[in-house]
Amino acid sequence: MNVKVGIDRIGFYTPKWYVDMAKLARARNEDPNKYLIGIGQRKQAVIPNSQDAVTMAANAADQIIDDDNRQKIDLILFGTESGIDNSKSAAIYLQHLLKLPNTVQSVELKQACYAMTAGVQLAKDHVLAHADSQVLVIGADIARYGLHTPGEPTQGGGAMAVIISANPAILSIEEGSAHYVADIMDFWRPLYETQALVDGKYSSQQYIDFFQRTFTQYQKQTNLKISELQAIVFHLPYTKMGLKALRAILSKTSEIHANQLLREFEYSRMFNREVGNLYTGSLYLSLLSLLINSESLNAGQKIGLFSYGSGAEGEFYVTTVQPNFKDALNIPIITKILSQREELEIPVYEKMFASQMPLTNTDFETDYQADDAKFYLSGQKNQQRQYRSR
Ligand code: CAA
Repeated sequence: MNVKVGIDRIGFYTPKWYVDMAKLARARNEDPNKYLIGIGQRKQAVIPNSQDAVTMAANAADQIIDDDNRQKIDLILFGTESGIDNSKSAAIYLQHLLKLPNTVQSVELKQACYAMTAGVQLAKDHVLAHADSQVLVIGADIARYGLHTPGEPTQGGGAMAVIISANPAILSIEEGSAHYVADIMDFWRPLYETQALVDGKYSSQQYIDFFQRTFTQYQKQTNLKISELQAIVFHLPYTKMGLKALRAILSKTSEIHANQLLREFEYSRMFNREVGNLYTGSLYLSLLSLLINSESLNAGQKIGLFSYGSGAEGEFYVTTVQPNFKDALNIPIITKILSQREELEIPVYEKMFASQMPLTNTDFETDYQADDAKFYLSGQKNQQRQYRSR
């Protein structure tokens, strides 16, 4: 591959409300350290009924689209497992909200939390075939398991948006990637369910197994030595999950390098610990967390990425840090989104959790007046979702 292709811009959005995990633990008669350390989460995003996968994607993508790239984007790949229609793609609503040209090809992708990575790789191939084009890739989801379930402390939500282009400003994607796919029932959501069904312990074991398989396969394919990796970032359904997977391969490297990988992992989970699971976007929020918070990343260093989508599909691939990558990250916006949120007490969170727009054919108005996001869902009218911007 002569032309470098990779991530040129990154946008992130999560709604402004959260619950404190120590308080949630107390309300569920659990030791707070189970959630804070055992699960590895400090705060969890609470998604109001005025936000869905489409509006969260628009709020994230809006940060990275300007006059410079608006005319170059010719493809939107929208990864989600929180789809709002069984037929029409979320990407078309997004194309309209962002006022992108009608000529932009727009498609939704689904394979649980893996779909954004599928989008990134398809986008890379698209740019290799059309060097002047840019692709908007989205991962946007609401992670819902239900109140009083074991999955409750691993909920969350939000959206990641990346632009894939030639000569990227942030990371180039190395050639090659390793996949592992197997038909398993670790986590799924039948059409009649609004909340995921999950075999939690089994899913966590499968995640580690898929990581080891894809990591080993990648090393075989490319002769990559583990010591060449400055950091490995993971899909983080809860941040302890990534740590468990990382620990499974640390014996393959020196103690000094193992400690470096552990140090970088701490940077890569800082943002996820404050938000919870984003499903498709989680890996890319972790990547953003590493890029912004790590003090030792330099141009030319390699970062490994492990993507996992239940059901299940895993992929391991490698990126290379580009010179001056920090200049291409909109750090003030990301910091503002995470620092200017409002805490909800547990009964208020429970009420918001229960106020989702019903899946019926009746008209409905959301609580959008309380939501100050630029893009929001005002409700449903004549069986059509009403998207608005301010
Ligand atoms: N102090 C410190 N740690 C404590 C503690 C305390 N007081 N009490 C418990 N812990 C630790 C436990 O030892 C355990 O640690 P290990 O996993 O390292 O053994 C951890 O806290 C969790 O405790 P439990 O295993 O008892 O927790 P649980 O049975 O209530 O459920 C869970 C945990 C299975 C992850 C559950 O939250 C769940 O089902 N989550 C949803 C599924 C999920 O996220 N799966 C991940 C892989 S699938 C995927 O990645 C796709 C996706 O996005 C869903």
